[in-house]
Amino acid sequence: MTLNRQQFLGLTAATTTAAALPVEGSLRGVAGRHGFMFGAAVRSGALIADPRYRALVTHECGLATPEGELKWNAVDADRGYDFHRAEAIQAMLALSGVRLRGHTLVWHNALPRWAELALASPETGRRTLADHIQAVMAAWRGRIDSWDVVNEALDPGEADGMRRSPAFRGVGPDYVEVAFRTARDAAPTAELVYNDYGLEGTDGRSEAKRRALLRLIEQLKSRDTPIDAVGLQAHLSLEQAFDQPSYAAFVRKLSGLGVDIHVTELDVADHSTEAVPVRDRRIADRAEEFLDAVLDTPRARSIMTWGLTDLYSWLNDWGRYYRRDLTPARALPFDASYRPKPMADGIRRAMRGAPSRAA
Ligand code: XIL
Repeated sequence: MTLNRQQFLGLTAATTTAAALPVEGSLRGVAGRHGFMFGAAVRSGALIADPRYRALVTHECGLATPEGELKWNAVDADRGYDFHRAEAIQAMLALSGVRLRGHTLVWHNALPRWAELALASPETGRRTLADHIQAVMAAWRGRIDSWDVVNEALDPGEADGMRRSPAFRGVGPDYVEVAFRTARDAAPTAELVYNDYGLEGTDGRSEAKRRALLRLIEQLKSRDTPIDAVGLQAHLSLEQAFDQPSYAAFVRKLSGLGVDIHVTELDVADHSTEAVPVRDRRIADRAEEFLDAVLDTPRARSIMTWGLTDLYSWLNDWGRYYRRDLTPARALPFDASYRPKPMADGIRRAMRGAPSRAA
């Protein structure tokens, strides 16, 4: 059967994914043309209740991370696992060809109380860690092909740079390696990512954290641990100084250890009381300056923002991140009315300006 052009277009629109036909200037479209992926953290409740948000996500994102729906305390039910909320996200985005990233398997936060205790005990730590990784990855095999296996293991305040998390205490300092090995066994083709924050400043703490991250990845690699990529969360703030050349050098060093690089949670906090257009400009400039430093390395593969519209930003939910004047954050590429902000242009410009890589 030969279809005429109109039939073909109708069929394509109805059956194929928007991934095949990303809208020209959309962030996912620009990303695709320059060999990147673009996406955002998303919320199941908002996808269900807010059709305009859902339309914005499918229009702009080739990737999505459930913002909380796959964390341990979200999936752990009384009898076995409950993935309803994450599955709802998958169902709502799959037809638009949005791929999911998994966040996160091992983290010191968002633990149910029983898991916190079981991880921290030398008797049950290893088994609890391995069982959880296996159960969640097996349940999502074939549906999620990239996972934040370990999140935020570093603490620059410790001499060895490692956070004294429940898993560190119960499993031991090699728990990160154990987690990655377990993950590879559970889903041999999935991309395994180490994810962390607090790496961007020029202060001593940020410097120490960058050193600790390089050391951790170097150690993991020297022991042939199956780790594929590092996620740079990138919760930026205009109150923190940023030195582009030294950050770019850090990212080059990191990728030189043999890992891909993802920007996983980009947003830009500020406490400025200047006019909104001025703030938006400065926020956009910071995001672009940061991305220029990261995308400079050919191993940088994807950019995700932590939320897409200012309407749904975690910065407006967490008391300690509230702006001092208690007006809403403007940390994301779209405003609370879903209009693109200068930050969206900044992200596009960074992708267009990056050294070319295979699409
Ligand atoms: C945050 C979510 O955005 C909030 O909604 C939630 O209540 C707490 O966690 N680093 C991470 C993310 O890796 O999981 C965090 O997400 C933000 C900081």
